[in-house]
Amino acid sequence: MAIERIIDAGIHDDDIDEKRIDVSLRPKSFNEYIGQDRLKNNLKLAIDAAKKRNEPIDHVLLYGPPGLGKTTMATVIANEMGANIRVTAGPTIERAGDLASILTNLADGDILFIDEIHRLGRTVEEVLYSAMEDFKLDIMIGKGPAARSVRLDLPRFTVIGATTRTGALTAPLRDRFGIIHRLEFYTPNEVSRIIERASNILDSKIDPKAAAILSTRARLTPRIANRLLKRVRDYADVNGDGIIDVPTTNSALALLEIDELGLDPGDRNLLTSIIDNYGSNPVGLNTIAALTGDEATTIEDFYEPYLLQIGFIERTPRGRRVTAKAFKHIGRQFEGNKN
Ligand code: ADE
Repeated sequence: MAIERIIDAGIHDDDIDEKRIDVSLRPKSFNEYIGQDRLKNNLKLAIDAAKKRNEPIDHVLLYGPPGLGKTTMATVIANEMGANIRVTAGPTIERAGDLASILTNLADGDILFIDEIHRLGRTVEEVLYSAMEDFKLDIMIGKGPAARSVRLDLPRFTVIGATTRTGALTAPLRDRFGIIHRLEFYTPNEVSRIIERASNILDSKIDPKAAAILSTRARLTPRIANRLLKRVRDYADVNGDGIIDVPTTNSALALLEIDELGLDPGDRNLLTSIIDNYGSNPVGLNTIAALTGDEATTIEDFYEPYLLQIGFIERTPRGRRVTAKAFKHIGRQFEGNKN
């Protein structure tokens, strides 16, 4: 029963529109990119060193919850390196031959961005190992007894892999990345600045207090912030004079049923389902998925990271547990932990 969620940081059907607008909203350089300072500092060093040696940078693995800017960071790296970027995704590279054709079309110094890299198939992944390590492509020609393996030279390229779950990556693949970083949730102040920057680009006037409200409702996630900004801007254009002030923002968010912490009906349903059935006792991921009718991976990738971040859910060895803080927010009496 996956409901369409405006606060969902994952890819949506409306992403065609999203991407078109995002193209101009996406920062293109480290200077424009707000937040993720630790990651930026590490990448800047790697890029400066690579440029000095006239080499491509080491393979980079970016992981973390959806919507925090992994793809954006990949395009920034490419711009800062002055390199071409080719964008693809794990599930679209179905066969080893698909990967071979991508790799043989790369030029020296190119960046290959592989989104959802944890979803690469095993045989494709094995081709990627030697490509990443030795810049060689091992392919089988022919079938049966006449089959033979040939080794082709590849240009020196850089893989930037993105994943929401490093745990799902095989160890040999993870080991081939020289630079591995997690993208963190942004601070409310950083999200406010991202919103103000975006409204500037969209030529909308926004009260900084309204930007601050939107930043906490956006689950500390830029992709959601920009999406909410567009909806609030629609509301201001239709019901007001186009200026995004505090009352307009509050009315638009009430219409979207997003509460002060950015929780939508889907999150509240998840929390109340656990509370109603298990109180504050630990409960397994698959049980939560059965309660809400979502896939376990949807819970793990989309709902849980933010609920963990704001301390509404705790991970215990025996499963997930709803905290006293969440009980209070939902308006339920906390009966304490029974164990
Ligand atoms: N738009 C989306 N993410 C951004 C970021 N991190 N900095 C600036 N603008 C953004």
